[in-house]
Amino acid sequence: MRFTTKSANLFMHGRSVMPDGVSSPMRAFAQVGGNPICAAWARGSKIMDVDGNVYIDFLNAFGALLLGHARDEVVEAVSRQASLGTVYGLSTALEYELAEKIVASTPSIDKIRFVCSGTEAVMTAARIARAHTGRSLLVKFGGAYHGHSDALLATPLNLGPAAVKMKGATQGVAEQLNREVLLCEYNDEDQLEALFSAHGPQIAAVLVEPFATNMGFVEPRPGFHARIRALCDRHGALLIFDEVVTGFRFNFGGVCNSLGIDPDLVTFGKIIGGGAPIGAYAGKARYMRHVAVGNRVFQSGTFAANPLTMAAGNAALDVLARPGFYEALDARGSWLEAAIRRQLAARHIPFHFSRHGALAGVAFRDSREPMRSYRDVKTQDYDVFKKVHARLLERGFLMPPSLEEPIFISAAHSLDDLTSLAEALAESIQLSRAERAAADGQPTSAV
Ligand SMILES: Cc1ncc(COP(=O)(O)O)c(C=O)c1O
Repeated sequence: MRFTTKSANLFMHGRSVMPDGVSSPMRAFAQVGGNPICAAWARGSKIMDVDGNVYIDFLNAFGALLLGHARDEVVEAVSRQASLGTVYGLSTALEYELAEKIVASTPSIDKIRFVCSGTEAVMTAARIARAHTGRSLLVKFGGAYHGHSDALLATPLNLGPAAVKMKGATQGVAEQLNREVLLCEYNDEDQLEALFSAHGPQIAAVLVEPFATNMGFVEPRPGFHARIRALCDRHGALLIFDEVVTGFRFNFGGVCNSLGIDPDLVTFGKIIGGGAPIGAYAGKARYMRHVAVGNRVFQSGTFAANPLTMAAGNAALDVLARPGFYEALDARGSWLEAAIRRQLAARHIPFHFSRHGALAGVAFRDSREPMRSYRDVKTQDYDVFKKVHARLLERGFLMPPSLEEPIFISAAHSLDDLTSLAEALAESIQLSRAERAAADGQPTSAV
């Protein structure tokens, strides 16, 4: 039995000075219940809480860490830079170095600018698309999360009463901003075509994650992105790939490279900062020129491209660029995949497991079919997931505290970490399903 008394006490104190005791809502564990834990330190694949419990980390700061925690090269670069100054309000060689690496990695982009978060990156990309086209509507997909800017949290124009509740729905967005977004089901090109037929001349851009990572892990159907590209071309709208999660996760650059899609604008974040706060928007010169001085679109930031983040990002990307890095990462992913499939089969658990590279997800529903849309995601058993999350935490595995996040594998995970996760996960699912069936009065054989 793990004790988390210090975490509980800290949260009690934290709640007196911060709403829910957190600076970002997921950390309150609202979706999974139970006591959230407070981190003390982390290294490699392990994270320790303030009570001294050690967990194998599959949250990895919501995917910001591809190298695990406190990687030597990154720590050294950040420490060196800290002694030279943390922010200057001036440009640095470090930021040109990082910009060159990213621009060279992804043929779709000619220019890039750094900001401090994925939120800012997507917000600015959307602003550029609207300025360039002189149109106001953005299309996004159900279950997507593109940060918390007003424009991306606005209520979609076509959100009918039957629609699944929109993710990140919020009050406080100015009324006139609402209805400037259209919502489409992920993987539903026909619906997208219908939206273009109805609103084509008003659509500035389609904003899409190449792999949907904010609803567990949902892969695009073959041809989905090519059809989006073709529709954007036909109707004069821009295609924005939100690669805040996918960028540099599967290959050195945007995953648009390996998908063979040529987006107009690409947003990055998370991994490219090496664990420090970052966002970046990038794209073709004809769109990026809008943010140059005297042009149409404004964006700035006191901490944009701060040297600490640039040092961390450069150090991380240098490790990612080493020959064999992504092959080794993919091998870890396929090891976990084999282990989870074996464990689920041995326990007769009919859940689907999806994986691409180092990103994976288990669909908590009795179906061999992969999830394709947010509607599918909502058919999962959130109650069983809650129990599984608590069981895994107790056994020393930190999983994302939401069924709508993927499992984040890092280069720091050992094969033992992955094998033990597979065993613990399948066993926790089996026990939680049995518990649930018993509560519902079903025979245990039904699980
Ligand atoms: C796809 C996507 N875009 C944008 C964001 C916003 O990034 P940030 O949290 O750095 O503002 C996120 C955050 O998780 C994301 O998953």
